[in-house]
Amino acid sequence: MSASIQPEARQRAMIARVQAAVKKHQPMPAMYRELVESINAPDVSFKQLSDIVRYDPGMTMNILKVVNSAAFSGAARIDSLQQAFVRLGMQRLFKIIMAQGVSVELAGRLKGYDVEPKMLLKHSIGVALAAEGLAQKLSYPHDLLFTAGLLHDMGKVVLDPFVQEMRPELDARLAGSDTEYDQIERDVIGVDHAQAGAWLMEQWSFPEELVSCVADHHHPGAAGTYKDAALMVHLADTLIYSAGIGDGIDGFRYRVAEGVAGSLGLRARDIEYLASTTLERLNEWDALI
Ligand SMILES: [Fe+2]
Ligand SMILES: [Fe+2]
Repeated sequence: MSASIQPEARQRAMIARVQAAVKKHQPMPAMYRELVESINAPDVSFKQLSDIVRYDPGMTMNILKVVNSAAFSGAARIDSLQQAFVRLGMQRLFKIIMAQGVSVELAGRLKGYDVEPKMLLKHSIGVALAAEGLAQKLSYPHDLLFTAGLLHDMGKVVLDPFVQEMRPELDARLAGSDTEYDQIERDVIGVDHAQAGAWLMEQWSFPEELVSCVADHHHPGAAGTYKDAALMVHLADTLIYSAGIGDGIDGFRYRVAEGVAGSLGLRARDIEYLASTTLERLNEWDALI
């Protein structure tokens, strides 16, 4: 064992501090919990969706700003949620609301991770769109995969102060080996960002499948029941990192799961098509990013 690895007691204390930080983290507004629950109710009506959102005027205003961006609305202006629903359809509207809801949390600068403002948000929306594209191709619930992609790195927001604190040790480990970054997080902090994110999703009472996708996005083989969903988030993450969107201290020093495309029944040309369409679609989200 390297001398730089935290002694056990110190590591236990740090894990307890991370868990306390998760507990203290801003609760997910009830509105989003209802929204995520509606993922599992495919016949949710526009009335239900607008009832969830309309008590937050700032939210409605922000949604209208996004849907009025050229890519979404076309020529005519959209002035109400009802019009947005008619023009975009329920599923696109759902995704805009979800992304808008977490945009403030994901848009900040992550000093510890060396991630500039808005870069994690751009990365997360890219992964959401790629995961959604994979789910559509594989006839999997794409609202869920979009949401899992959007939230997969939320643990970095929780862990960033700890990464800042332990930065000299993390940097030394990064320089001295080719170990995967999440393993270095586990060695130095005692917990990686995937686990911290999963704790947060559990605290927000999000569905088990979503928690599993977040927990296992770097090691989808460990996902058990929800392995296919975790594989899709993992593949989507890889595609977006490969496009240079989201690099920080970790510099995508993660192992890419072997044969992931094949085990989902995808061919190389499916992946190439997905990569190019996702990057085009990411431009549609500029108004939010
Ligand atoms: Fe990650
Ligand atoms: Fe990621």
